[in-house]
Amino acid sequence: MRHFLNLIDLTADELNHLLTESARLKDAHSRRIPSHSLSGRVVGLVFEKPSLRTRVSFEAGVAQLGGTSLYLPGNEVGLGWRESLADFSHTISQYLDALVLRVYQHKTLDGIAQVSGIPIINGLSDWSHPCQGLADVLTVRELFGTEAGRTVAFVGDGNNVARSLAVGCGKLGMQFVLACPVGYGFDEKFKADYCKKVSPDFPKEINDPFPAVKGADVIYTDVWTSMGQEAEREERLKRFAPFQVNAELLSKASAQCKVLHCLPAHRGEEITDDVMDGPACAAFQQAGNRMHVQKAVLEWLLR
Ligand code: CP
Repeated sequence: MRHFLNLIDLTADELNHLLTESARLKDAHSRRIPSHSLSGRVVGLVFEKPSLRTRVSFEAGVAQLGGTSLYLPGNEVGLGWRESLADFSHTISQYLDALVLRVYQHKTLDGIAQVSGIPIINGLSDWSHPCQGLADVLTVRELFGTEAGRTVAFVGDGNNVARSLAVGCGKLGMQFVLACPVGYGFDEKFKADYCKKVSPDFPKEINDPFPAVKGADVIYTDVWTSMGQEAEREERLKRFAPFQVNAELLSKASAQCKVLHCLPAHRGEEITDDVMDGPACAAFQQAGNRMHVQKAVLEWLLR
């Protein structure tokens, strides 16, 4: 049995398979071709944090494949405090066929997955956001025909979203540049465990956004203060201000450059209205792709 906790755990062939299946499912959805691949299956969704895209795209995707989903607020389940992670996992494995979790701490996912009798899917943790990373690569593939050889400049925090995208890029032959203030880059463990195995200079980390976006095919940004970091907000607003994705920064990238954002966007902070609403932005195509990749992941895990 497989889980879907980090893109690091998948081979390039497996990622390619999921991307191909995502495109097939997207096409089938656009042509309203019915599917019953999850008929009789029940997928649980435990969320410790708020969500729009992840929750709704999983619930809609499961319904479209003929399955049933069940939303469980984190404060009702009480992962690790109402009962142990192992007791929760042993119990829920008897009822469900797969479980999506959005958690504060990645170790919560590991604790549940270790003893789980059903596939566990990471719907975002402090460490990674693999569903987002997969949708991001699918979007790049759609925009450019192929992702290999393309360069993504991530302008912002070296956070969970950036980490997952960097892994997707590294595995599928893309360049990844992280433009961030000093002290907000990738952690040493991630660099040692993953990045240095891609190549010694992967990814590039630059503390100035302007050289970072030169020649980029994609500029990617995310909020400067993630859920759980609210106490750092004032400091982060100051440190990240020079890293705003605006018309001036976009003008320094290549003419065909696209802008991605995992959303929700804090307009006027990490991205301006004119860029969000402009022709280069593909953030809503990217958001739509969340559903298609997650359907592919569910079919792959429950095949
Ligand atoms: N990008 C993303 O995960 O969106 P939500 O937080 O709305 O699920």
